[in-house]
Amino acid sequence: MKVVIPGSIPQAAADLLMKEGFKLSILKDDSDYKELFREITDADAVISLISHKFNPYMIEKMLHCKIIANYGVGFNNIDVQFAREKGIIVTNTPDVLTDSTADLAIALMLGLARRITEAENFVIQGKFRGWRPQLFIGTELKNKTFGVIGAGRIGTAAGIRAHSFGMKIIYYSKKGNRHLEKVAKAKKVLLNSLLKKADFISIHVPLTSETFHLLNKEKLSLIRPDAVLINTARGEIVDEKALIELLKQKMISSAGFDVYENEPNLNPDLFKLDNVLLLPHIGSATREARTNMALLAAKNVAAVLKGKKPLTPV
Ligand code: DGY
Repeated sequence: MKVVIPGSIPQAAADLLMKEGFKLSILKDDSDYKELFREITDADAVISLISHKFNPYMIEKMLHCKIIANYGVGFNNIDVQFAREKGIIVTNTPDVLTDSTADLAIALMLGLARRITEAENFVIQGKFRGWRPQLFIGTELKNKTFGVIGAGRIGTAAGIRAHSFGMKIIYYSKKGNRHLEKVAKAKKVLLNSLLKKADFISIHVPLTSETFHLLNKEKLSLIRPDAVLINTARGEIVDEKALIELLKQKMISSAGFDVYENEPNLNPDLFKLDNVLLLPHIGSATREARTNMALLAAKNVAAVLKGKKPLTPV
């Protein structure tokens, strides 16, 4: 049975699948749709990247495919409903990237609170002339309020980390989260209240038709001028144009982006802002998370092709 896997994911996936006796087609260039398209038409399974759009047109061509194993927890790149109609199982990689992504949300918070990139640029530009009382004054995290939008696995892990800095935790989520309440003394609040109260707001909802522009212009306007917004989830959850306007007018103090609305085509206005920290979608980019993502995707493929239940179906 033929399994298509991207050439850039850790070798662990190929090793596991070869050991199981599958025939592998390793994509030379993960961004080459022609190659992807050619290889998937007779494949029994595909490990997909979150940058691969599996729309009905693509899925229609996958006549033998039994599973699309997404290398990522978010699966908005796949038309899951359509795949299901075609009898294709879709899986993702939850849990294994929770800690890495939560770490990155905290890194963005610290980076903005302590003006890390601004300060580093100052040093690199040779402007450091010794200690000064007013040099890069930032904000302490202790006693500040951390607002978690979406208290799933990653939101919970981020909230617990923020609590360890002495922050107060509030969260907005459809369901109550007893664990977060117990461990981080978190309080569940309505979205508007979170946006008005939090000093740092961190987004952790998945992208769905319900969460598209969850933070639209009206919601973003509720955020305090001294507050910071962090997004390590998906760009489309925020109306990026509206956010850029508010950042320009300093109606929101600063924002940390790991994800963008039209990824990888960034709004050029972002580069003109001095109150943003911009990262290239690296939430899960640690050796540990990426290796375990590869293994989990491969295990899902192996299970389904052997007629067993997938480990992490979406
Ligand atoms: C995911 O898994 O959805 C992440 O965005 C990848 O880093």
